[in-house]
Amino acid sequence: MYHSVNIREFILINLNNHPNFFASILLDWHRHSNRRVMPWKGEKDPYRIWLSEVILQQTRVEQGWAYYQHFVSSFPTIRHLAAAPDDEVFKLWEGLGYYSRCRNLIATARYIASERGGVFPDSFEEILALKGVGPYTAAAIASFAFELPHAVVDGNVIRVLARVFGMNMPSDDPSSRKIFNTLAQELLDPAYPAQYNQAIMDFGATVCMPQSPDCNSCPLHSDCQARQLGWVSRLPPRKQKPDKKKRFLHYIIFDHNGSLYLRKRQEKDIWQNLFEFYLHESDRLLEPAELVQQPFFKKIVNGGTFRLLNSSPPRRQLLTHQELTGRFFRVRLDHSPEGLEGFLAVKEQDLQKHAMPRFIVSYLNGKT
Ligand code: ADE
Repeated sequence: MYHSVNIREFILINLNNHPNFFASILLDWHRHSNRRVMPWKGEKDPYRIWLSEVILQQTRVEQGWAYYQHFVSSFPTIRHLAAAPDDEVFKLWEGLGYYSRCRNLIATARYIASERGGVFPDSFEEILALKGVGPYTAAAIASFAFELPHAVVDGNVIRVLARVFGMNMPSDDPSSRKIFNTLAQELLDPAYPAQYNQAIMDFGATVCMPQSPDCNSCPLHSDCQARQLGWVSRLPPRKQKPDKKKRFLHYIIFDHNGSLYLRKRQEKDIWQNLFEFYLHESDRLLEPAELVQQPFFKKIVNGGTFRLLNSSPPRRQLLTHQELTGRFFRVRLDHSPEGLEGFLAVKEQDLQKHAMPRFIVSYLNGKT
């Protein structure tokens, strides 16, 4: 039904012929709410805005905050970041997960430092062309740093629009996504793109939340279609999530002569360039007695003596598309392991110098 109605008309109908009403309410709310103080708010340096937005892509504000501050104090400009060795940047990123963000951060900093004289691009199209920058991040950078009129659209924004305008459309469907994008862009106040975008982000996060939205203090309360229809908790409709891929990981910490064996992961996956212990994956979780019978294990031990010092209980971690279950086994060898080419022998006290996947870091910190 939305296809047959021009979006501008749709807004006029919904807002009683006051198309600027939505933006002006949000801007007003934001000026007076003072609810969210964040270190990147009001920032005008595109480098710092880019950094904060990349951190916030898959990370909550509370968690991203300290990382942002460490990054800007370690690398005050994009040239500092571009000049840093990969491992130093990965170490600072450790714990944030989704390491492709960190790889793209490094690649983009080096590209801007070497190809663009260290000057951040200032057009939406060029910003969007940067590695690791999608439409949301590009709109955030373009509006916050350069006051360009590009509306941010993510799950928070879609929720606000779906409720206020009573749109019963799934946010992950491409054709409804187009409608949300068009609507969001029409609603943006081109005189205040930065403030407007920050306002709708904060509004979605603190008033129009997914669960238990604060409708009583909502400034759009009397105009909200979902509120009038009793649909607040139903909009936007839940997406059908595909099953997560189940992976079973066995990390074996080979320990010989006071050193532990670590390697830098080369596979082009979410953990590329991070350090890990010997990893054996299988289609189910193995018991210690089964593990030591595996051909790979026998090959590494190569007939020598070993002691299984410790095996952890199973640990779990949920990622966006994967469910990880794993155990850690600490194995002391009386001789060097066979065939661990590319592994480094690292003293236990030096482990923390190496950036590792969160799954491993949380085991090392918790030691359960
Ligand atoms: N999420 C993504 N960008 C954000 C920002 N600038 N402020 C708050 N939350 C965000």
